[in-house]
Amino acid sequence: MKRVALLGATGSIGRQALEIIDAHRELELVAAASGSQGIDGLAPLTQVGGDLTELLERAGPDVVLNAVVGFAGLPATLWALERGVDLALANKESLVAGGNLAIPARKTGGGRILPVDSEHSAAFQLLENRAPETVDSLVLTASGGPFRGRSRADLGNVTPREALEHPTWNMGPKITVDSATLMNKGLELIEAHFLFDLPYDRIEVVIHPTSVVHALVRFRDGAALAHVGYPDMRVPISFALTYPERAGTPIPALDFGSGLILEFSAPDEYAFPCLALARAAGEAGGTAPCVLNAANEVAVAAFLDDRLPFLAIPDVVERTLAQIDCPPASSLEELVEMDAEARRVASTLTRAVVT
Ligand SMILES: NC(=O)c1ccc[n+]([C@@H]2O[C@H](COP(=O)([O-])OP(=O)(O)OC[C@H]3O[C@@H](n4cnc5c(N)ncnc54)[C@H](OP(=O)(O)O)[C@@H]3O)[C@@H](O)[C@H]2O)c1
Repeated sequence: MKRVALLGATGSIGRQALEIIDAHRELELVAAASGSQGIDGLAPLTQVGGDLTELLERAGPDVVLNAVVGFAGLPATLWALERGVDLALANKESLVAGGNLAIPARKTGGGRILPVDSEHSAAFQLLENRAPETVDSLVLTASGGPFRGRSRADLGNVTPREALEHPTWNMGPKITVDSATLMNKGLELIEAHFLFDLPYDRIEVVIHPTSVVHALVRFRDGAALAHVGYPDMRVPISFALTYPERAGTPIPALDFGSGLILEFSAPDEYAFPCLALARAAGEAGGTAPCVLNAANEVAVAAFLDDRLPFLAIPDVVERTLAQIDCPPASSLEELVEMDAEARRVASTLTRAVVT
């Protein structure tokens, strides 16, 4: 039996995780948390909001599935890693903001990070048991979101409703907007850097509209391996929760006879500047990724609330980064302070934009 704590149980990932847990007798849901929605009776222990590490202390799980959205997931990520508890990680923001604390914590705690992000689950499977010197580079695929192919001029008046119409994935609102700006792929780039210990110049992003190829790894001999499958988050959720058994799922096997379209192209970084902003913040290091993430959370919330135009999202992020020194943080408390400072600056910048 694996005792699972599910954080973010009411969200898109959380609901799909409940389906996977229900289908496997060897998975026992011992604790569940949400941010604000009531979840009484969902698990023996439940908590709504507050400090999620208190719930984890009481539950003592074997695996934490962190499917909280945003920086709020960071304490739970660190809690699991410091104790050597397996971490099934959907909450990419915690690794983006806190990778410099999380990766050393994984080393000292001795636990595993089992990525739930589909690209990182794919990369994990492609890279597992490979000698690092044989790996040339990692390629992360991006669907391109609902505005793929549009020029910058075509993006001026797009609405939250349009941004929420994702072509291949059905996800929560924040990540769906991140997919539309390509910030999601920027956050994933930083996530991959920390997870797989690869420098940024060996992680590439390509647009792949059908989302069938989730990641590729190029090796030094010229071969490249790809991870392919229909876009369905229940596959990486199941992989992470049942690792290393790789239990069955209800997802159909790929049907090559029906004509899969495997098309790839370079991202348009002029129309979608968030990707380059994230790459630069990752390369700058220190707390720049934490500031990038915080500013993005503020800007996306304002966009969803009709207080900020779509194209101002990267502007707010860029200007927040320009206004703040981003020295390395050596504790969760310092990161929390940096996150709060970035939110203050980004909120001021957001208010100054006239919609
Ligand atoms: N959805 C996907 O397909 C997908 C794919 C890859 C990665 N991810 C990542 O997975 C994470 C979750 O995404 P999602 O799409 O499932 O988001 P979502 O549908 O918006 O759900 C977010 C969940 O987090 C909870 N939450 C928010 N703030 C919280 C807080 N302070 N404390 C405790 N719980 C809190 C919410 O609870 P309430 O409902 O009560 O607010 C909800 O259960 C994100 O980091 C996202 O980037 C998602």
